Amino acid sequence: MKVVKTIAEVREQVKAWKAEGLRVGLVPTMGFLHEGHQSLIIKAVEENDRVVVSDFVNPTQFGPKEDLASYPRDIEHDAKLCEEAGADLIFHPEPEEMYAQDYCTFVDMDGLTKGLCGKTRPTHFRGVCSVVAKLFNIVTPDSAYFGQKDAQQLAVIRRMVRDLNFDIRIVACPIIREEDGLAKSSRNTYLNTEERAAAVVLSRALNKGKALIESGEQSAAKVKDVIMEELCKEPLARVDYVEVVDADSIEPIKELKGNVLVAIAVYIGKTRLIDNFIVEE
Ligand code: PAF
Repeated sequence: MKVVKTIAEVREQVKAWKAEGLRVGLVPTMGFLHEGHQSLIIKAVEENDRVVVSDFVNPTQFGPKEDLASYPRDIEHDAKLCEEAGADLIFHPEPEEMYAQDYCTFVDMDGLTKGLCGKTRPTHFRGVCSVVAKLFNIVTPDSAYFGQKDAQQLAVIRRMVRDLNFDIRIVACPIIREEDGLAKSSRNTYLNTEERAAAVVLSRALNKGKALIESGEQSAAKVKDVIMEELCKEPLARVDYVEVVDADSIEPIKELKGNVLVAIAVYIGKTRLIDNFIVEE
């Protein structure tokens, strides 16, 4: 498996694979890979002849007061994990390779990006869409793999692919959790021991919401209440949002029908964690 840093090297390799008629999968990541990313790579390996993993902490999706500088990085560890999972190429560019000094073109989206995480991170999805569009143009994959943990990101990328006519199949992969239920995330590494223990409240609260829905509850407000009540029991938790929305449009709903996304964002200490579940029609 090769680690390359330039767009030209990725293009050359992918061109050679495509000339052989091989199917190419892309797993976009910001590195510091864990079992969640590994599951995406394994799925991509199953479904493609060659797999590219992009490993790039994308500066444009961080707000001015966010954790760009401290975001964890470990390319050696990432390369090992990618190799074990069966990837063929890691694209690990420097920021200057992706963004020229006078860079000024962005992919912006209305609607879906305004609620949930978009409320507290107003420029986040503009950065995500822009870098993902660039990666799609650089790698030109047949399929691209994203985790369900970032459910809003997934909906936004699906919409971008539809609206901008990218000929790429988007594959969603399930959330991978720690044994106690905490969703795997590179940001879990920010939590100290006490915060790590407290963070399990996210999945516990979501499970309460899920159980209520399974018992027949149709009211989004009641589901939100039960989740909020559980979150508020944890003194280290500060709720950013608890939302029940349509899974495709990310519009808030009052009554549970269609595909529903129940999503939360909670600060544990200074670390903002997200989690969710989907109720399928
Ligand atoms: O989900 C992520 O890790 C990032 O948002 C992505 C899709 C790799 C874009 O930088």
